[in-house]
Amino acid sequence: MKIIVLAGGYSPERDVSLSSGSLIANALMEQGHEVFFLDPWLGIKAGERVHYRTREEGLGFAYEIGGEAPDLELLGTETGAKKSLIGPGVLEACREADMVFIALHGSTGENGQIQAVLEAYGIPHTGSGYMGSLLAMDKNISKILMRAAGVATPDWYLAEKGKCSQPEFLPCVVKPLDCGSSVGVTIVDKEEEWHTALEAAFSYGDRVLVEKKITGREFSVGVLGGRALPAIEIIPEKGFYDYKNKYQPGMTREICPAGIDEKQESRLEAAALTVHRILELGYYSRVDFLMAGDGAIYCLEANTLPGMTPFSLLPQEAKAAGITYQELCEAIVKNGKG
Ligand code: DAL
Ligand code: MG
Repeated sequence: MKIIVLAGGYSPERDVSLSSGSLIANALMEQGHEVFFLDPWLGIKAGERVHYRTREEGLGFAYEIGGEAPDLELLGTETGAKKSLIGPGVLEACREADMVFIALHGSTGENGQIQAVLEAYGIPHTGSGYMGSLLAMDKNISKILMRAAGVATPDWYLAEKGKCSQPEFLPCVVKPLDCGSSVGVTIVDKEEEWHTALEAAFSYGDRVLVEKKITGREFSVGVLGGRALPAIEIIPEKGFYDYKNKYQPGMTREICPAGIDEKQESRLEAAALTVHRILELGYYSRVDFLMAGDGAIYCLEANTLPGMTPFSLLPQEAKAAGITYQELCEAIVKNGKG
């Protein structure tokens, strides 16, 4: 198959996506596909030809993620790229492909916009459709739907810019409404931390979610082809599972299978499958949870395009279920939409 791997994009998670995308592209070439690696933000320069690489040619790199999310303004100035989701030549290239593997992360790649464009043009793509992507990426909408379906999620409200001099409850977690990888997220234990936290979250968008902090253990459950993968437990060495702890070596222990009892595993599994279903997600996703000291589980969010980096959770869960990274990518391609 001729497959375009979309990675990078105009998103604070672009480095994470470049890492996921480079590994995915390598894995797909190993499976015998012809692969074109494309950053939808930067696009294709005029006169440049789309060149699919084969296994023999290889991709030639595995992207390394820095300690902090990149500065998109700076990158835009350096590259001269406009602030648009789809750069020059991207749509034309996608129309020529047999399948577009969406390896984007974060707002613009995960919120349904790119999925809607591809679907409008009848271009087959991997992952969830535009509707599920939109529902899952908006943490407010997804939490409303979780509650309606009987899946517990921490209490929350939306902060209004310029109208929230103090938090409604403490401790709380302040997050941009539609980012991932903990970009712009701060845990606020004391009131004096509130304004800095708000400023950080509002720097990534106009909508900010304030969530009650649940103290407990952190788990994640992948969903693949209608079944749940083994739960993984996430234990950062220091602090919470923030951007640095997610993508720098040795910062976090990930334990899979999680070593919890059968009852806890099946509660996490059932909640993950419910959330996946009510958000109308496609072939795969990964659903994140906290387990409080009393054993109650709270769903935080569903990720429609879970990370596929060397540190990411879904590939580790798949491995625990006997599915290799290559098999995982192949299954995602086989179950692409359109
Ligand atoms: N948002 C990152 C990529 C994840 O959920 O894995
Ligand atoms: Mg996320």
